Amino acid sequence: MCGIIGYIGNKPANDVIFDGLTRLEYRGYDSAGIAVIDEGAIHVRKDIGKLRNIRRLLVDDFASSSSIGIGHTRWATHGRPSAFNAHPHGDCISSIMVAHNGIIENFMKLKKRLSDEGHEFKSETDSEVLAHLIESNYRGDFRQAVLDALKHVEGAYAIAVIHQKHPDEIVCIRKESPLIVGLGIEENFVASDVTAILQYTRQVVYLDNFEGAVVRRDGISFFNITGASVEKKAVQVDWNPVAAEKGGFSHFMLKEIFEQPQVIRNTIGGRTSEEEGKIYLEELKLTGPDIYRTQRIVIVACGTAYYAGCVGKYLIEKLVQIPVECDLASEFRYRSPLVDANTLVIAISQSGETADTLAAVKEAKSRKAKVLGIVNAKESSLTREVDGLVYIHAGPEIGVASTKAYIAMLTALTLLALMLGKIRSVLNSEFVKEKIKELKILPQQIERVLEKHDQIRELASIYKHARSFLYLGRGFNYPTALEGALKLKEISYIHAEAYAAGEMKHGPIALIDDQMPVMAIVTQSDVYDKTLSNLKEVQARSGCLIAIVTEGDSEIRHMTDHVIELPAVSDILSPIINVIPLQLFAYFVADLRGLDVDQPRNLAKSVTVE
Ligand code: AGP
Ligand code: GLU
Repeated sequence: MCGIIGYIGNKPANDVIFDGLTRLEYRGYDSAGIAVIDEGAIHVRKDIGKLRNIRRLLVDDFASSSSIGIGHTRWATHGRPSAFNAHPHGDCISSIMVAHNGIIENFMKLKKRLSDEGHEFKSETDSEVLAHLIESNYRGDFRQAVLDALKHVEGAYAIAVIHQKHPDEIVCIRKESPLIVGLGIEENFVASDVTAILQYTRQVVYLDNFEGAVVRRDGISFFNITGASVEKKAVQVDWNPVAAEKGGFSHFMLKEIFEQPQVIRNTIGGRTSEEEGKIYLEELKLTGPDIYRTQRIVIVACGTAYYAGCVGKYLIEKLVQIPVECDLASEFRYRSPLVDANTLVIAISQSGETADTLAAVKEAKSRKAKVLGIVNAKESSLTREVDGLVYIHAGPEIGVASTKAYIAMLTALTLLALMLGKIRSVLNSEFVKEKIKELKILPQQIERVLEKHDQIRELASIYKHARSFLYLGRGFNYPTALEGALKLKEISYIHAEAYAAGEMKHGPIALIDDQMPVMAIVTQSDVYDKTLSNLKEVQARSGCLIAIVTEGDSEIRHMTDHVIELPAVSDILSPIINVIPLQLFAYFVADLRGLDVDQPRNLAKSVTVE
């Protein structure tokens, strides 16, 4: 998600805020805005586009002697990128302005209730409900109005709020999305990360979940969601600006790997009803008849998105019981594909700009197929070509090697399969409720896997000079092997091949010797025993075996050289968690080989050419 900055002090607020926003540009965004309090009134300027193109609007023509304000760079999740959807968002009379990072999961319900109470909305966003909620809870105490408003809110937020009746304070608070407070001399700052304010101060307070602050020129009071005061210590940030952009991680890729638990929460956010056992995909726009008429599904994508589609094939065939074909977009577009009005084509793309995938969609539409996009980037070209959409809400992915977008795609595909399976009466509510519950605990299970980073780095140091690798997986995790092999080859330049474990005996086994490490995914599943016997074939030929297993698996330990244990999850969710150690392994091998992990040679983040 994107950037927030707030300033109160003795300099022109819009200058300081604009400067801070430019330091957050690396995060990717589609629009920006600034609001200030000047002579007792609130003034707001915002627009779509890059900061350099709207500088005149936000600074030059925004003659402001104000020294208090908030600013925002937006990565749209709800409501297309546009001037009126840009933040900050105001209440009915623009007496309150809010800048928000995150997703308000229950915004539709809140928006309806507030509209029924007479509130007039100006945007399509989820965030705007916050301004109207604060307005409806305001009784003279600004901080209390924010706290009372948040009692109604479900989802992730980091917010900075100003109120024209309180021109000497910024109220800020966070839940899930990051937020910090910067301490200056007769000036103070609020920001979504230290990068925005390093040129002004290195004294920073990191707010924890459900913590906030009232930020004034002459001091800051910290509180928690109940309103109780909390003691917070400032820390000295010694990072240089480049390190700060990566949040202290060595590379964007590692930062994005560690963001994955929150990404899953954002992808699920507001789309499930556990009590009803229902999934809501608001932009799907596929009618019941569309879904009943579908006799076949074809998934088209490239690279990592294609491997997500391969998992999607297993998911949809198991949960929806419709035949699914997963095809490389670059092949599909030239093979006169047999698709028609009874075919649903699902195009998966993080960027929404991949030439082959766009061409495949055009080919499908020329043959009257309905097309659904599973996309990360709002308003990307692909989103304008498809009939329906499922946004994956992974936030901007900077590392060229895709990680968090991949697990967001898998999460979105799982939600889609559960929804279609329920609509087509293949699944009952009890099953869907169970899977929703499992999805919701997946983030903390992934956090436990991420804690094993030292063990995985150790493993990477053993194998960093390998000349080739074999990845094996079966069933839902055959695509996991494919994705793991892609991660290794694209950032460490070590050749890696993935095979369905059962395929080993049909040729690849000739490759096995003590110079060919084998990475095997063999977590608990209904193909566990079969995979085990495949691995015995590897062991019998003195292959070195690294096994990704379910914790507590004592059976496999004696036949492997290394074991990485993961929490037990159901088979259909296992690709989401099983890929994490493979991402970390590839990252550490590449880093230990001293390579450019974020910008691997020959690669582009989005392949917009054939
Ligand atoms: C994945 O790590 C690569 N960066 C690449 O394979 C990528 O997944 C592929 O180019 C598709 O990109 P898209 O998801 O933006 O369409
Ligand atoms: N969900 C909000 C929106 O779409 C905020 C997105 C962000 O964090 O930039 O406007």
